[in-house]
Amino acid sequence: MDNFYTLILAAGLGKRMKSKHPKVLHKVCERPMVEWVVRSAKEAGAKDVVVVLGHGAEEVKSALGDSVKYAYQEKQLGTGHAVMVSKDLLPDTGNIMILTGDTPLIMSETLKKFYNFHLKEQNSITVLSSFFDVPDGYGRIVRDVNGNVLKIVEDKDADDAIKGIHEINSGMYIFNSDYLKKSLQYINNNNAQGEYYLTDAVEIVIRLGGKVGAYSAPNEEIMGVNTRVQLQEAEKAMRRRINKRLMLDGVTIIDPDNTYIGPDVVIGMDTIIYPGTRIEGKTSIGEDCEIGPNSYIINSEIGNGCRIIFSMITESKLYNNIKLGPFAQIRPESVIHNNAKLGNFIEIKKSVIGEGAKVPHLTYIGDAEVGKRVNMGCGSIVVNYDGKKKHKTIIGDDVFVGCNVNLVSPVKINNNAFIAAGSTITDEVPDGALAIARCRQTNKEGWVEERRKKGGL
Ligand code: UD1
Ligand code: CA
Repeated sequence: MDNFYTLILAAGLGKRMKSKHPKVLHKVCERPMVEWVVRSAKEAGAKDVVVVLGHGAEEVKSALGDSVKYAYQEKQLGTGHAVMVSKDLLPDTGNIMILTGDTPLIMSETLKKFYNFHLKEQNSITVLSSFFDVPDGYGRIVRDVNGNVLKIVEDKDADDAIKGIHEINSGMYIFNSDYLKKSLQYINNNNAQGEYYLTDAVEIVIRLGGKVGAYSAPNEEIMGVNTRVQLQEAEKAMRRRINKRLMLDGVTIIDPDNTYIGPDVVIGMDTIIYPGTRIEGKTSIGEDCEIGPNSYIINSEIGNGCRIIFSMITESKLYNNIKLGPFAQIRPESVIHNNAKLGNFIEIKKSVIGEGAKVPHLTYIGDAEVGKRVNMGCGSIVVNYDGKKKHKTIIGDDVFVGCNVNLVSPVKINNNAFIAAGSTITDEVPDGALAIARCRQTNKEGWVEERRKKGGL
């Protein structure tokens, strides 16, 4: 298949989104809508992609960067006008695919077939059409008795007979460059909306001796997003695709309607994802894991055989066979080694947890290195912040930290040390030592009775 140019129309404001941001930047499964369109075009073989900008041009540019070229349409005088302002960026020969920035569900496979159909038919224009039970609002494809495409009539310009046509214009086309450039000269704005309609090119090209055809695509793929209600429908459809791909690759997803997985996430075979789980960004999860219910994982790497329940993990790495949760949070830059067990209501921040370490309940570890097989008792915490600066704590291998211990950073606990429950540790603890840092208990016999007699209790 040879290369073709792609023009993506994205200058409109999208009033019905009721937003401060340009419509095409609203996200569907983590990516701006227009980015999905750019990706599909490129995957289908587009050589150069030109995006026509208008409203919020700078914002769109910073989202797409230099992966595409840009044309600028100062006033949005219609789809035909949008192509006119881009004309100099388009080649004089070959084919040009025209897409819109608000149809994120269009798939590269469909665009490939569309392009091959255009070549095979040797068309001057091929319109991507679709059949809708309720075609309201769309331009209609008008054919003659032999089925040849004659013209496209906009909904606002249509009479009752034309409104009865169910074949609609998706707003996507492939043009022969030569015919596109010729037809632009003849497009005017004598219509109900006073706009330069690109759809008028169909009649013009036929008049100039060209051949026009239509290629039909599934409804879902050509769905345009104009409102937040449609945005949510597009999100749902995209999510269904992502989840389906993962399931076909060997991942069990218990309830795909309630599982939110980003397009860049990789998950290994025989992993089970329970409902209410959201996995975002560049996250990878190994094989034989159980994730969720209700877990949230962002830009993290998780090995094999991990069990994560009701927990959140951000920008961290977990090796293999780790148990996490319920109700644990792993904050950025943490590394958890094999077989560690991290239980309920714990928080780990920018710390390394050694192989086989146990942090079972109610613990905070920040800016620390925790050795192998360490046991952190219930309620033990690292006091890493002095009100101004963060400090580091190092705990060696096989250390036993008793319950309700404060490790005031910076401090070092050497291998095999034992920290008595309730201690506040401020000094280095030698290898194999017991550290106890709390007041001795004193029992005052008969104190309660005496106090009561004095009327104090
Ligand atoms: C257009 C088609 C209609 C089709 C429908 C499919 C025309 C005249 N009509 O109508 O036949 O059924 O799409 O969704 O083309 N844009 C610009 N500059 C402009 C105007 C629009 O860049 O001056 C962009 C918009 O940002 C949008 C796309 O072109 O991405 C479509 O424009 P829109 O106004 O939504 O066209 P429709 O009225 O929906
Ligand atoms: Ca539209």
